[in-house]
Amino acid sequence: MTPGGPATRVVPAGFVRAHTQVRRPSLVPEVRLHVADDVVALWEAMEDDAGGAGEAPPFWAAAWPGGQALARAVLDDPGLVAGRTVLDLGSGSGLVAVAAVLAGARWVLASDVDPFSRTAIGVNAGLNGVAGISVTGDVLDRDPPAVDVVLAGDVCYDREMTERVLPFLDRARARGCEVLVGDPGRPYLPHQRLEPVTALDVPETEGPGTRRTTVWRLP
Ligand SMILES: C[S@@+](CC[C@H](N)C(=O)[O-])C[C@H]1O[C@@H](n2cnc3c(N)ncnc32)[C@H](O)[C@@H]1O
Repeated sequence: MTPGGPATRVVPAGFVRAHTQVRRPSLVPEVRLHVADDVVALWEAMEDDAGGAGEAPPFWAAAWPGGQALARAVLDDPGLVAGRTVLDLGSGSGLVAVAAVLAGARWVLASDVDPFSRTAIGVNAGLNGVAGISVTGDVLDRDPPAVDVVLAGDVCYDREMTERVLPFLDRARARGCEVLVGDPGRPYLPHQRLEPVTALDVPETEGPGTRRTTVWRLP
């Protein structure tokens, strides 16, 4: 069972629109996103929608620092994705996928295990007037899709996820994909075997602090 129920579950777009606010991520003001100002209230609404079933937290209703840094990187250096096909792994809100299209990507496949995310990606793509994003579920146990670039924003947020993500990224790299990972210094990522592309200070959603966040390339 995936978070939120079977992989076939479809969350109505109206749910995303009704329970979020439209904001611009601080590092990526070109993009508008449905995000949650009150994550707890949103999570409760998700539980109600599912009839009380245990829902994963609404990761999809925030622009995470790794995703913001990655989105900023492709918008500032469109050559990373322009004219190329892209996988946005662990897409969440779809921020990185939208930024990749705005930077000229030919087609983006946005993958997320969470059905709320899969709906939010489409809603956010529409909000930004972008086309060319397809949405899929969990691809980690499969052969990586035939894309030119894999973008992975903040996907190494816990040990279990990292242990699934890293072999997938290695397989994608072995197939010739360019692999870029946006990460705000999480301990699970093996930084010593990655090359830094750029580092940015991403403002915290709450409070005046920033998170030093690096975009890494798999060599
Ligand atoms: C921390 S969020 C990052 C979201 C987005 N990339 C960003 O930076 O704003 C991690 C995302 O990975 C997704 N995820 C977890 N396991 C996954 C899997 N096996 N395949 C695809 N996505 C997954 C979660 O549902 C969540 O949306």
